[in-house]
Amino acid sequence: MAHVALKNVNKIYGSGTRAVHAVQDLNLDVESGEFVALLGPSGCGKTSTLRMIVGLESISSGDIFFDDRRVSDLEPQDRNVAMAFETYALYPNFTVWENLAFPLEVRGVSEVEQRQRANEIAELLHITPILDQYPPNLSGGQQQRVSLGRALIRDPSVFILDEVMSHLDAHLKFQMLFDLKRLHRDLKRTMVYVTHDQVEALALADRVAVMSNAVLQQVGDRNTLYNRPANVFVADFIGEPPTNFFTVEPAQNGDSIKMIVTNADLTFALTEQTAAAVKVHGGNRFTVGIRPQNLHLDDKGDLQAEVLINEYLGERSILSVANSQAKFRALVSPDVTAGPHSSVRFSYDPADVLVFDEKTEALIV
Ligand SMILES: Nc1ncnc2c1ncn2[C@@H]1O[C@H](COP(=O)(O)OP(=O)(O)OP(=O)(O)O)[C@@H](O)[C@H]1O
Ligand SMILES: [Mg+2]
Repeated sequence: MAHVALKNVNKIYGSGTRAVHAVQDLNLDVESGEFVALLGPSGCGKTSTLRMIVGLESISSGDIFFDDRRVSDLEPQDRNVAMAFETYALYPNFTVWENLAFPLEVRGVSEVEQRQRANEIAELLHITPILDQYPPNLSGGQQQRVSLGRALIRDPSVFILDEVMSHLDAHLKFQMLFDLKRLHRDLKRTMVYVTHDQVEALALADRVAVMSNAVLQQVGDRNTLYNRPANVFVADFIGEPPTNFFTVEPAQNGDSIKMIVTNADLTFALTEQTAAAVKVHGGNRFTVGIRPQNLHLDDKGDLQAEVLINEYLGERSILSVANSQAKFRALVSPDVTAGPHSSVRFSYDPADVLVFDEKTEALIV
């Protein structure tokens, strides 16, 4: 196991007018034995980051450390890091057993030990019954496990996974999520897992690092990302359906501040603490965010709106509503029958009202 530290890491592909700044000033610590997911939309720099950790891509500037060792200039084979990709890359003419043992074979490990390690890994990944089969005869999920096993068998100090579940169907994905989580618990390896799927990231990782446009936006556990998103991007990206946003103007009344939505008859109350932070921050326009699950249907609620659509999704429904120009969504029980044009009211807990700087989009706390 190793602690992984990225210090001011930059990746720039190409040069001049064709230069792409794929990773910008990235600072990230992954504790020894920790499971961190790198999450972000396509093209935000996730794979580039992984490839620099593994050593498959040069670092344009900055440094990477495994524990106290600077690995920035080391070849991949000298870093003791293993990587599994979304494509399985198994040898079709080798049995599962031979595929697993191959990384040990090339390192001159004795056949007895190869057998023993392969059996242990197979046990861990539930692939013992297929050890004698050939990859083309296996399902996608089985091939994925063999590929993971082959990466794990070297006993790396850092284990890197890039979108390893994107080829799996929903059922297999669920099984793999469960297996990976168990694997991490059993092996206690330092793991970095890349995905653009927030469900995977939040289900698996101890902490999630959210990237956008080459820049790390926030690193935090599930609760932090949900309840204290660092900025509008994180509030919007994490959570389904995404956070509702409103442009607002503050109205001060003694020590309390209310946020009045522009172009609608909606007002949000703030906690004392948020009001104090807004006061210190200053300004006359802000963005308010509130999550759809934090809006509660309530006849006595402050927020009135007209229903546009009531979407039934099985275990819950999404009410899309409007008040003048402001449209927003609320997560409600599937028993709610309110249809288009009916009037509804919502209440909320002021602690769930997030206030962001209108320009920088940073959370005001
Ligand atoms: N070898 C390369 N040469 C030039 N540009 C590259 C190269 N590899 C990646 N890029 C660019 O760098 C940026 C980040 O790419 P990267 O593959 O790291 O994104 P990603 O977050 O892994 O995306 P995805 O979710 O689609 O896999 C993109 O704009 C991409 O086009
Ligand atoms: Mg990628």
